[in-house]
Amino acid sequence: MSSSVVHGCNKPLIDRFTVGADGWRRCWEEGVTPWDLGQPTPAVVDLVNSGTLPGGDHDGRATTVLVPGCGAGHDVVALSGAGRFVVGLDISEAAIHKATQRAAAADGNSFDFVAADFFTWEPPDKFDIIFDYTFFCAFEPSMRPAWAKRIAELLKQDGELITLMYLAEGQEAGPPFNTAVVDYEEVLNPLGFVMNSIQDNEVAVQSRKGMEKMARWKRMANPTSLNSAGETQTSP
Ligand SMILES: C[S@@+](CC[C@H](N)C(=O)[O-])C[C@H]1O[C@@H](n2cnc3c(N)ncnc32)[C@H](O)[C@@H]1O
Repeated sequence: MSSSVVHGCNKPLIDRFTVGADGWRRCWEEGVTPWDLGQPTPAVVDLVNSGTLPGGDHDGRATTVLVPGCGAGHDVVALSGAGRFVVGLDISEAAIHKATQRAAAADGNSFDFVAADFFTWEPPDKFDIIFDYTFFCAFEPSMRPAWAKRIAELLKQDGELITLMYLAEGQEAGPPFNTAVVDYEEVLNPLGFVMNSIQDNEVAVQSRKGMEKMARWKRMANPTSLNSAGETQTSP
């Protein structure tokens, strides 16, 4: 999703589709998906190959991974296997249909696709890992606290959040909306998330070079709890 998606050849995307669930659905139904790399994100392939991604036995079951806003599902399949079961979630039925078709040849026992709204979806279990790429930046900044609250609700207390941050700047509108590292920190830190590492994405595709960083986050061990508003409360 380069800036040109908004300001250049894909300007009609913004003119025709308002931001929101219907807008995303229409993008997929009409095949207007300029953000889709058509392949796994290279940084995801590197992450899998790095051996630093948890995988394997968790009390006799696989490590579970959620990819919210998975689109055509390339990263879902890339992250799956080696003891990981990955759920790709997207609000668009058409995206999930495409993802399911594309993934038909892969090992279907290690991933699944779900068409649902990230903000209201209620999975049976929380996840060990959540991987976010070009999802945070897809929402208006006013929705970022709600994004963080859902991440906290969907991730196990000792789980890991991995954000491949697309740091768009100079945008008059979105998506993608202007995004800086501090924007993640502002909504995640109050919920107890601590950034353990951050590095430039050296293998970003050409149009995104110099604009991406990968950060890995853990939550502090129970220093606080969430109240009903999703705000932190210090444990007594
Ligand atoms: C910019 S695209 C990125 C897709 C994918 N991560 C990729 O890199 O190709 C954002 C995706 O989020 C999905 N999406 C938007 N709002 C959503 C929501 N509330 N719940 C689930 N998916 C949503 C859209 O349908 C779209 O596929």
